Amino acid sequence: MHYTGLLDRYHMLMDIPAYTARITLLEGNTPLIPLPRLAEQLGGGFELYAKFEGLNPTGSFKDRGMTIAIGEAAGRGAHTVICASTGNTAASAAAYAARAGLGCIVIIPEGKVASGKLAGAAAYGARVIQITGSFDDALALVVELSQKHPIALVNSLNPFRLEGQKTAAFEICDNLGCAPDLLCLPVGNAGNITAYWMGFQQYNDLKGSGLPRCLGVQAEGAAPLVLGHPVEKPETVASAIRIGRPARGEQALQAAEESGGKIMAVSDEEILVMQRSLAAEGVWVEPASAAGLAGLAAEVRAGRVNLRGQRVVGVCTGHGLKDPDIVVRAMTHPTILPAKYEALEALIDCRNETSLPILPNALYQPNDEIIKR
Ligand code: F0G
Repeated sequence: MHYTGLLDRYHMLMDIPAYTARITLLEGNTPLIPLPRLAEQLGGGFELYAKFEGLNPTGSFKDRGMTIAIGEAAGRGAHTVICASTGNTAASAAAYAARAGLGCIVIIPEGKVASGKLAGAAAYGARVIQITGSFDDALALVVELSQKHPIALVNSLNPFRLEGQKTAAFEICDNLGCAPDLLCLPVGNAGNITAYWMGFQQYNDLKGSGLPRCLGVQAEGAAPLVLGHPVEKPETVASAIRIGRPARGEQALQAAEESGGKIMAVSDEEILVMQRSLAAEGVWVEPASAAGLAGLAAEVRAGRVNLRGQRVVGVCTGHGLKDPDIVVRAMTHPTILPAKYEALEALIDCRNETSLPILPNALYQPNDEIIKR
């Protein structure tokens, strides 16, 4: 069947006003990609999948919520939307506002937003304002502004964002035939884990699809939900989740507890190692998006989970292209050669290259193993 976007597909399961406009870029319907090699590295004996949300139209999961939040704003006659953002919300809001013909203002922490996100917000035509403060400061400002003026707030405090984002849980259940045993995902402002838990519960009530344990993962330098108090100056390489006062923190803790999971923290090093492991399996995600699976790896290493026979889904929230600088900075400068065949052949040492061992997994995984509707 021709795919026409999340609103068409799941509107019967969304608690949204009838006037919600259909503003779509055909978001959602993202693939659940098997990660057999990473599963082996983590001890094997279980199924591991990445829900690759970086394949949404603007490169992150935010598009799921934005199609609904902007559709609602447009449907009730708003002219302008506003959000605070560490980058992905900004790019997504900008794209959907452009699609709807609405103005868009995004407030970001100065110098703390990855280049692919900032470029996106600008390309889609948003008015970008940097503040000399954190994401948390930016959020407080836009909440106040939207309360005093007729400008629609599209951060995940807006309940319609969650109505859209919960569809990722529906898709996972539809793809696997039931809920996974464990869901691992990064936690920043905590809207996403809240939305997933809503989605899994709703589907379970409706279809008996079961419930996963939710493992929410913060970065050590920005882990208010693990520490039990706000973090005034959050710091992490995973700029998307550099958040010290999560707006939906209570709900995230509740989701973790009710599901029999937990909220934990991992180091920046663990996040970057997992980013590389995922890329080594062909899935390039931005650092924050590797946090969920970095948390899983830490749990495995500490012997705190037994995954035998289980199905585990790691939510990879944003594409690696969002934050190319992190990789470019770390890579060795590529060799420069004259444009001469002999020079290339001499440099590559072709005989040795072809005799390099080829990892079996690199060859055996056919494309049809990628579960996509
Ligand atoms: N992963 C990525 C790539 C994100 O951009 C975010 C949040 C999260 C995870 C965490 O999701 O906030 O629902 O817990 N980014 C927001 C933004 C804050 O402004 O783009 P959350």
